[in-house]
Amino acid sequence: TNSNLTPVMKINQDAADFYHRVLVTTRAGERGMAYAKKRELDKKTIDHFGIGYAPQQENLLLLYLRGKNYQDDDLVKSGLFIQSKSGELYDRFRDRLMFPLSDESGRVIAFSGRRLSNDKTEAKYMNSPETEIFTKSKLLFHFAEAKKAAREEKHLVLYEGYMDVIAAYKAGVKSGIASMGTSLTDEQVYMMRRNNRNIIINYDGDDPGVHAAERAVQMFKQAGGFNIGVVVLPEGLDPDEYVKKYGKDKYHSEVKGALSATDFLLKRLAKKFNLNNDLDRINYLNDAVKEISNISDPVQQDLYLRKIADENKVSFEALKANLLHEVKRNR
Ligand code: UTP
Ligand code: MN
Ligand code: MN
Ligand code: MN
Ligand code: MN
Repeated sequence: TNSNLTPVMKINQDAADFYHRVLVTTRAGERGMAYAKKRELDKKTIDHFGIGYAPQQENLLLLYLRGKNYQDDDLVKSGLFIQSKSGELYDRFRDRLMFPLSDESGRVIAFSGRRLSNDKTEAKYMNSPETEIFTKSKLLFHFAEAKKAAREEKHLVLYEGYMDVIAAYKAGVKSGIASMGTSLTDEQVYMMRRNNRNIIINYDGDDPGVHAAERAVQMFKQAGGFNIGVVVLPEGLDPDEYVKKYGKDKYHSEVKGALSATDFLLKRLAKKFNLNNDLDRINYLNDAVKEISNISDPVQQDLYLRKIADENKVSFEALKANLLHEVKRNR
C-alpha cells in the first residue's frame, strides 16, 4: 500500500513512526514523556495524534533512515535535515515534542516540534520548511480526522494551536482544526468551506487572539457561504488552559454559547466607545448600523437592529431609517 508514495512522503511517514516510538518506548524518550505528562497528554491522546519526541542526541533519525536505504537527496528534500556547506546532513529537530502535520487524507507531510524548556531564546515551535509535499498556507492541523467528526458535530472548530485542538479533543470536541498560528489564509478558508459551512472560531482569549478572530470573521464573510460562531474565552485563557482550569463541561457550554459573527463584531465595536457619553453612543450606533447594513438577510438585519435599539434605548424606527439611508448611500 506504500508503493504509490514518493520517497519524501515515505520519509515523513517513517520519521513519524520513529519519533513516536522514541517517545513511547525508549529511555531516550523519557524527557519527552515527562514533558507530555506535564501537559496532561495521556497514552490514548499521544496515539491518536501520533505525537512523538525528537531525541537530544544528534542524528539518530539520520542513522535510522539511512539504515532504511533512503538516498541523501531525498532526505534533504524531506525537510527533516539541515545540510551544512560541506554537504553533511544533520537532524533538524532535537529535544522537541513532535507533532506530525498531515494532509487532508491523513498522510504525514511535515512536523512541528515544541521545545520542552521555557527558554525564550529558542522558538517555541519549530516547523518543517516547505517541501514538494508541504505548503504552510494549506495546512490545517487534524483536518482529516476533524472532517469525519464534523459530520456528527455539524461544525468545524478553528483553534490557534495544536495543544488547543488536542485539549478540545480530550474534552469531546473532535472537530477541531488549527492553522499554524493566527495567520489564517484564504486557501484554508476554502478548504473548510468545501467541507463544512458551520465554523466556530475559538482562538486564544488574549488580545492578539481576539484581534485575529476579528480578522478571521472578515475572511469567512468575504469568502461567503459560512455560518460563523465565535467563542471568546475569559481571562485571556487559551482553550487548553481553559479546559485545565474549568473542565470539560464548562468548555462545552462555552462552545454551545458561541456568539454569532454579528454579535461578536458589535460587542467588539462597543468596546471602542464610552457608551455613557451621548455623542459617543451616537457614533457607536452609526457604526453599528453600518455593520448591520452589510447583512443581506432582512430577518437578521431586523433582529440585530431591534437588539441594539433596545440596548441603547432608541427606537427601532429611527435605526431603521438610518440603515435605509446607509444602504442608499452605498448603492
Ligand atoms: P501560541 O503561542 O498560542 O502557542 O501559538 P500554544 O498553541 O498555546 O502552545 P503551548 O500551549 O504554549 O504549547 C499558537 C500557534 O502558533 C504557532 C503554532 O502553530 C502554535 O500552536 N507557533 C507559535 C509557531 O508556529 N511557532 C512559534 O514559535 C509559536
Ligand atoms: Mn496565542
Ligand atoms: Mn486591542
Ligand atoms: Mn495559545
Ligand atoms: Mn497553550
